[in-house]
This record gives sequence, structure tokens and C-alpha cells, in this order.
Amino acid sequence: MELIEGLENLELSLDGPEIYNECENKILSKNQQKKLNRYEAISGRKKDKRKEERSRRRERFKERRQGGEKPKDETRKEQIERLTNAKEVGIKVFIDLQYATNMTNKETQRLCNQLKRIYGSNKASISPFNLTFSNLKRDGIIYQTCVEKITGFQQFHVNMIEESISEEHDISKLIYLSPDAAEYLENIEDDKVYVIGGLVDDTVQSRVSLQYTETVGLTARKLPIPLYMEKSDGGTFKQILTVNQVFDILLKFQETKSWPEALIAGVPKRTGFVLKQEHKENS
Ligand SMILES: C[S@@+](CC[C@H](N)C(=O)[O-])C[C@H]1O[C@@H](n2cnc3c(N)ncnc32)[C@H](O)[C@@H]1O
Repeated sequence: MELIEGLENLELSLDGPEIYNECENKILSKNQQKKLNRYEAISGRKKDKRKEERSRRRERFKERRQGGEKPKDETRKEQIERLTNAKEVGIKVFIDLQYATNMTNKETQRLCNQLKRIYGSNKASISPFNLTFSNLKRDGIIYQTCVEKITGFQQFHVNMIEESISEEHDISKLIYLSPDAAEYLENIEDDKVYVIGGLVDDTVQSRVSLQYTETVGLTARKLPIPLYMEKSDGGTFKQILTVNQVFDILLKFQETKSWPEALIAGVPKRTGFVLKQEHKENS
């Protein structure tokens, strides 16, 4: 039993018909009557809304099943199988999480959100990458923030290692994606390892990833945006994309083997980049 505010000495059950029986036997003041009317209107509306939402959900579920969509747990099982298989045969992509000290707490939180999206995209892909979060120190701010902010982060089907990429791999195989690289990425090859810098820099910290590649002696490549796209009338015309946007473009490219398709799907509209005429038919 709950006491409705203002209906002094009148106990009302919020979910039973007793409310009416109780009230019927009492003489209510004008004020009480007004409050009771309001309560009835609100609770009635809420019930109707819940009923509508339930029937909409049932409809959607029926439509999905009739349209041949698999039940959720079956889809999830298949996704996990693909991710497990990718650990054996998938092209390797690393997210290099060495830049914790370059970021504010807010930027770190945004990075964690981007890692979650990356995991989501990889899980949903029919040909996922063999994905690794490297340089992920268990006592570091990135790991701690991800665990705190992302439900199930520790159970992600991703390799999570504390080592840096150069400790893990033959550096001649590494291709580091950097917006400041001199050369464009042309292809994705099975025997190479692709690295995206795990950095969110709201105020752009120019050449950070490029400097790292120069120090260690790694090959750096930038996305071939200007090769396939041109500026439309308006936009930010920024070619520095977020970690998850770059990941999605790589994923789409390896699915389609088409840069026009991958770039048009992944480069945000607000940048103002559109496909060059000669590439429109190929996308
Ligand atoms: C927000 S950017 C960080 C940019 C940062 N100023 C730097 O020096 O890398 C995050 C990461 O996405 C990748 N990235 C972003 N835009 C890119 C582009 N146009 N070409 C290649 N990689 C890009 C890089 O790996 C980069 O480290």
C-alpha cells in the first residue's frame, strides 16, 4: 500500500482496483477529488503506454522472425564463433593504447567508448579482424576506466595485452595508421599487422603517432581519402578521424575490397567529403 501525497488518511494501492473501492466509501474534499482524478489520468495513461509498447515489441519480434531473422542467442553464438576463428585466421589489427598520458579524463572516457564501438563492429562483422588492445596496463587509467564504464569489458573477445606492439611483433610487418604519414594505405594484406593509435585528442596533438613510428622505425600510412574523395560545398574537411571510424573503414575495406565503398560508409558526412565522380559507380 502506498500513500498518495495529499490524500490524507486515504491509503491507495497503486496497482489494484482497491483504489476505487476505498475511495467510493469515503467523502473526498474537492482538493482530494482533484488529486485523485489526476492520479487516475496519469496511471491510466502509463498503463496504456506500457500496453502499446508491449504489443509493438511483440509485432517487431514477429516481423523479424517472419523475415528470417535468427533468434538473438543464435546470432550471438555465431558471432562468438567468428571472433574465436578470427583469433586463428583473421588479419591482425592492434589498437595501440600507449597514449594514456596524452589524454584528459574526459578524452580517456571517450576512448573507452570508442573501444566499445570497435568491439561491437568487429563482433557484428562476417569477417572480423583478429583484434588486440595492446599496451593495456591493468593498473592504468585506460583499463580502469573501461572496466568501470563498459559492462562486460573484461569478457570482450579481444586479445588484451600489456606489451607494446613492437615487443609483440616483427616490426617489418607493422603498418601504423597515422593521419600525418607521407604515404597512403593502398591495400590490406594478410601477413601484415595494422595498428591504430588509441588516442583521443580534442585539441589536435599533431604528429604524435608519426613521431612514434619514426622513433621505432615503423612503416606509417594514411587513409587514401584524397585519392577517392573531393571536397563538396561545405564541411569541416578534417581528415583526422576517430579510432573507431578508422577501424570501421578498415573493416569495410577488407569486406568489400573497395576504397570508395569503405570511405563513403566511414568518413563522416560533416567532413564534407564526397566521392569523386569517377569512383561513384564503384561504391
Ligand atoms: C584521433 S586520431 C589521433 C591523431 C593524433 N594527432 C595522431 O598523431 O595520431 C586516432 C588515430 O586514428 C588513426 N587515424 C585517424 N585519422 C587517420 C587518417 N586520416 N589516416 C590514418 N590514420 C588515421 C591514427 O592511428 C590515429 O593515431
